[in-house]
Amino acid sequence: MTELNKLRGNWNYPTAIRFGVGRIGELADACKSLGMKNPLLVTDKALAGLPMVAEAVDLCKKAGLKCSVFSDVQGNPVEANVNAGVEAFKSGLHDGVIAFGGGSGLDAAKAIALMAGQTRPLWDFEDREDWFTRVDVAGMAPVVAVPTTAGTGSEVGRASVITDESDHTKKIIFHPKMLPEIVIADPELTTGLPPHITAAVGMDALSHNLEAYCSPFYHPLAQGIALEGMKLIKDWLPAAYHDGKNLEARSHMMIASTMGATAFQKGLGAMHALSHPAGAVYNTHHGLTNAVVMPYVLMFNRSAIEERLVALARYLDLPEHTFEAVLRWVLDLRTELKIPHTLKEIGVPENGISDLSVMAALDPSCGGNPIPVDEVSLKGLYLAAFHGDLAGF
Ligand SMILES: [Fe+2]
Repeated sequence: MTELNKLRGNWNYPTAIRFGVGRIGELADACKSLGMKNPLLVTDKALAGLPMVAEAVDLCKKAGLKCSVFSDVQGNPVEANVNAGVEAFKSGLHDGVIAFGGGSGLDAAKAIALMAGQTRPLWDFEDREDWFTRVDVAGMAPVVAVPTTAGTGSEVGRASVITDESDHTKKIIFHPKMLPEIVIADPELTTGLPPHITAAVGMDALSHNLEAYCSPFYHPLAQGIALEGMKLIKDWLPAAYHDGKNLEARSHMMIASTMGATAFQKGLGAMHALSHPAGAVYNTHHGLTNAVVMPYVLMFNRSAIEERLVALARYLDLPEHTFEAVLRWVLDLRTELKIPHTLKEIGVPENGISDLSVMAALDPSCGGNPIPVDEVSLKGLYLAAFHGDLAGF
């Protein structure tokens, strides 16, 4: 076993990352280095009651910082959560945000930091054309991000996914400076995650690396990161799933998650395009949904990605260096992690698929799919994933 003190580092790509077991102890120092005296710690409702949140607040207070908690954030956060957080930020006279949590907590926190000093409404900053230029950068609050799951990678993402309740769509709010200034990546914070969450978020990390790797755009930096990210997931996700206290496995999964979100600057694809509407309408878990649709999307994209997956199979040291070997690996990994094979099993109803397909076709993730997708082909994918029909492509 690798010594844990070797799984530690200070990295400045893609942002400043303090990585390693116990690094949460540097939270107050990180806040102070960004000029914060009174950070607002933003997390989600489920995490707020856990000791790690109280301990983080304690660390700040002991170091002479004022610090309050805002936790009115639901899974798949909505605009009202962001607006309430901005109110808390303003009324508490806060000067920075500690984004603490899994994808929901981190995304809500980053959106709150963005909105802290804006005059326009949230949806004006959706990731369309050059809408991000509308942001008053001086009105953005600094962010220290502390991931507590290994999957979303939102700690190094430049966007937040927020659900618009008026039309039940997940919208991407984007600004290049939404990338948190400092990340504290402490794998110990993930040891309490139950196996089914470890599995679901770990598969989200895999989907980020895999979709980025398959996307057709030229971005060799991201390509290399995605490849190594998938190798770490192959080697360590099962171990993290079977023994949540295995800090070596938790460490490698945490960085694989960060790598996934770094890589997907190259693009995502149909897995995310299918998953976003299902999450927005039926509140399915994001990573779990990606995991369910993953093999169907691989089959659909086969003609465009075969060569790449052969290279992937070689790097992953699979028994054969073929497309089928990668597909088999994904299917076996899902089975080992007890992830269902169909959308039916995670609560997506067949009679909702037509509407979901319309929404999926509008999802920005479609742009990175190796084979262009539209409403008809996405409906075919939803139906295949609903019925468990992998042979129909
Ligand atoms: Fe994702």
